[in-house]
Amino acid sequence: MPRRELLRRARGMDGLLCMLSDRVDAELLDACPRLRVVANYAVGFDNLDLAAASARGVALTNTPEVLTGATAELAWALLLACARRVLEGDRLVRAGAFRGWDPLLLLGSGLEGKTLGIVGPGRIGRTVARIGRGFGMRILRAGRGDPRGLARLLKASDVVSLHVPLTPATRHLIGKRELGRMKPGAILVNTARGPVVDEKALVEALRSGRLGAAGLDVFEFEPRLVRGLVRLPNAVLLPHLGSATREARRAMAVRAAENLIAGLSGRRPKDLLATLPRA
Ligand code: DGY
Repeated sequence: MPRRELLRRARGMDGLLCMLSDRVDAELLDACPRLRVVANYAVGFDNLDLAAASARGVALTNTPEVLTGATAELAWALLLACARRVLEGDRLVRAGAFRGWDPLLLLGSGLEGKTLGIVGPGRIGRTVARIGRGFGMRILRAGRGDPRGLARLLKASDVVSLHVPLTPATRHLIGKRELGRMKPGAILVNTARGPVVDEKALVEALRSGRLGAAGLDVFEFEPRLVRGLVRLPNAVLLPHLGSATREARRAMAVRAAENLIAGLSGRRPKDLLATLPRA
């Protein structure tokens, strides 16, 4: 919903079920003085200003757990597409350029025995790691508050998958320096939030061949792409589909609605992020 319309239509409401693209900040909260609960239809909540909501006694909730499997599966879809050059192959066939089997056509990277680095301590990262073990990969993990661990992980991993929330501390967690630490030819997968990666630096790393490929479901200036990204054959780009399965989206809707109803009924919502409404 366009911002202006959201501000207009939310005015006078007691509860709001919002999308991750809706900014719930002081401006919106002041424009909607009756609001008691805001249920975010997402697990990530960088669009919510927790301090502004707390100061106004507005409860905020998110939808954890129900999209863990869907998002981990999509991270793997990107990982495999990058490693095995799935999109390049598809484009080649559609362009009528497939002339028959060729021993050197679109060679990719095998995964068995390789190292998968998971950045982030949460459920989605753990699920991506579990799938990785099934592929025979060695797993390394590093939390966002562990710069040394992150540096080690970047140096040792053939694939790095990002699973941190977006906070001031994780904005550009992966920048020019970190990309420079990665193994030559490594793959980067981002299903977390776009601004965790400095996309300009990423484009340079992909263009130079320093990085083998990147699979991105989220973008720094979403939905806008940084210059040059769209022309890179070694970038696989998806329109923020992490939780886009019918099962996950239905479960998210139910969870958000339950949180909203609980908050409006004066009960503690299951996924309370900040502040119970004033009685
Ligand atoms: C989330 O829930 O935070 C995802 O990015 C949207 O599916």
